[in-house]
Amino acid sequence: MQADSGIGTPLALDVQDAMRRRRMYREFDERPVPRELLERMVWAATRAQQARSGVRNIVVVDDPVLMATARQVLPGFLSNAPAMLVHCTDTVRAREVMGRRGVESATWIDAGAACAHLALMAQTLGLGTCTVTSWSQPAVQALLDLPDHVRADVTVAVGYVPAAPSPPARGFRTSWHHNRFGSMFGSGGQG
Ligand SMILES: Cc1cc2nc3c(=O)[nH]c(=O)nc-3n(C[C@H](O)[C@H](O)[C@H](O)COP(=O)(O)O)c2cc1C
Repeated sequence: MQADSGIGTPLALDVQDAMRRRRMYREFDERPVPRELLERMVWAATRAQQARSGVRNIVVVDDPVLMATARQVLPGFLSNAPAMLVHCTDTVRAREVMGRRGVESATWIDAGAACAHLALMAQTLGLGTCTVTSWSQPAVQALLDLPDHVRADVTVAVGYVPAAPSPPARGFRTSWHHNRFGSMFGSGGQG
C-alpha cells in the first residue's frame, strides 16, 4: 500500500489486510486533509450501521484555530492531527425512537461502528485516525456549539500518516471463549 491517496483515486485494499494493519495514530503529517477526503471519511462513518435513523450527527472540524483549541481543551487528544470528526447523538430523537435505554446503549454502539469504518476507510486514502474519548462533555459542547440535546460521543483525529512501516501493534488482548465463558475458543485470543 502507498501513502499517497492521490485525491480521486482511493487505494484498493483487501478488508482483511486493512483490519490487520489498522492502528491508532498520534503523529500526523502537518498538511491539511483536503475537503474531498474529509467528505469520503464522513461518508464512511455514515455507512456504519446505526440502530435508528435521524440520531447520528457528525461534525467535521478542519479549522486550524478550532483544532488548536481542541488540542488544548481535550486532554485525550494527544496528536497533532489537522482535522477531526466528532460523532454526536441527538438525544431527544434517540429517546423518541428508542427510549432511555437506546440513548444509554444503542447510540454508543452506533458511535463505535462509525469509528471502525473510519479507521478502515482512512487506510484507503493515505490517512490515519485516532479514536479519542478522554475529554469532558462540556468542553466539546462549547468547542463545537453543540445544542444541549446533542451529545458528543467520540472525537476521531484524522490526518495523513506514513504508509509504511506500520507502527507496531500495542498488544491489546482479547480473550476468546467457546459456548461458555471460561472455555477457550481456538488459541484463546490474540494480542
Ligand atoms: C473507546 C475508546 C477510547 C479511546 N480513547 C482514547 C483517547 O482518549 N486518547 C487516545 O490517544 N487514544 C484513545 N483510544 C485509542 C486506544 O488507546 C488504542 O486503540 C490503543 O492504544 C490500542 O492501539 P491500536 O488500536 O493501535 O492497536 C481509544 C480507543 C477506544 C476504543
